[in-house]
Amino acid sequence: MTDALAEPFRLPCGVVLPNRLCKAAMTEGLGDAQLRATDKHERLYRAWSEGGAGLLVTGNVMIDRHVIERPGNVAIDVTHAASVDGEARAALARWAKAGTVAGNQLWMQISHAGRQSPRYATRQPVAPSAVQLDLLGNYARPRALREDEIVDFISRFGHVAKIARECGFTGVQVHGAHGYLISSFLSPVTNRRDDRWGGSLPNRARFLLEAVRATRQAVGPDFPVAVKLNSDDFRKGGFSHEDCLGVVQLLNAEGIDLLEISGGNYEQPRLLGVAGRADDALPVRASTRVREAYFLDYAQAIRAVATMPLMVTGGFRTRAGMEAALAEGGTDLIGLARPFCTHPDTARRLLAGEIDALPAFEHKLVLRERGWLSPTTPVLLLKMINVLGAQGWYYQQMDRLAAGRPVQLGRGVLRSFLRYWWDDLSRAVALRR
Ligand SMILES: Cc1cc2nc3c(=O)[nH]c(=O)nc-3n(C[C@H](O)[C@H](O)[C@H](O)COP(=O)(O)O)c2cc1C
Repeated sequence: MTDALAEPFRLPCGVVLPNRLCKAAMTEGLGDAQLRATDKHERLYRAWSEGGAGLLVTGNVMIDRHVIERPGNVAIDVTHAASVDGEARAALARWAKAGTVAGNQLWMQISHAGRQSPRYATRQPVAPSAVQLDLLGNYARPRALREDEIVDFISRFGHVAKIARECGFTGVQVHGAHGYLISSFLSPVTNRRDDRWGGSLPNRARFLLEAVRATRQAVGPDFPVAVKLNSDDFRKGGFSHEDCLGVVQLLNAEGIDLLEISGGNYEQPRLLGVAGRADDALPVRASTRVREAYFLDYAQAIRAVATMPLMVTGGFRTRAGMEAALAEGGTDLIGLARPFCTHPDTARRLLAGEIDALPAFEHKLVLRERGWLSPTTPVLLLKMINVLGAQGWYYQQMDRLAAGRPVQLGRGVLRSFLRYWWDDLSRAVALRR
């Protein structure tokens, strides 16, 4: 009964994954004031490694310490000595060792936050064009990148991948999804450039393709290189599903080992199964809505044009859903994220046949359902408290695992929301010292 999930999988580079389950990237927020890895990464990833998934992908590791996704990110900024010195590398090596104790793969997700870097985490966001993220005033207007900066960032993907390999990570993933820098280059809404980095799809995809090329060149042919890509931004005028199919065809020539399919961004957080601002939203397909996995339907279409293996992430919560997705050929691997925040041994228990369904707390993490807010509460505020409170809830469970403490399933969403801000702002203050 459990064979499909337990089946090993050979990647094009020759590396074999021991099973089909992957813990997808989740930003840990466990870095120190120098944005280096800490012993908390070690504790958390040891638990996840022992938890049985064949593949663990780290939370996003930043290539630019000045424009981060969140205080507490790990940054490997090759222009900053403390990011790459012996101490920083030793911390990365300890993280990698702990995250591979059970013989699984551990891939570093490499990213640049672009315009999705909050005011308290950056003095100046940067982006393809000066198009501001309009989310309750929390994001400053970004500065459009110069050509030389674009070229520098592309080369940094390669440098960071090389450091990851040297420190013991067994693969890397280029983060091209969710509205961060690479993803913002792909979208006509955020990329208004009229040079070789904007306009046509091949131009908008140039940053991604060159970052992938730099990465592959840095690590060699025998090391897993993956890409995470949106199936659609679900935003009017944004990176569309047709654009995605075009980018996949361009990626076919780059020899990547895995394409992870997700979708959405901060304005339309469909990656978490949440609908965003109504005024510019595009609906998800009806057939996808009835499935437990958010992007499977899109992955079927991607499969028709893709030559690399696929992983679909988002919403999988039952063994039946996962096995059907593998059997129907929509995906080669199953990406799971939130269940690992509360149950680090989720994969082992699925593989052993001990559970058939994963815990899903999303429905409980809604204030209105609990009656704490009246129906007249401003909708945007309510939505923000719900989305960020739920996100904080998962962060705080990871914090507890990383500190060797038991998870706290009864923690409320309002408390998680307030704690989210307290943690982020106090870490931001520590970074500025
Ligand atoms: C707490 C949290 C942190 C996340 N951080 C990242 C990240 O750093 N990089 C990334 O690509 N996706 C990130 N994601 C998205 C997940 O990888 C995944 O796409 C999403 O949670 C849907 O999968 P799930 O339904 O199994 O949770 C994060 C999600 C959560 C809940």
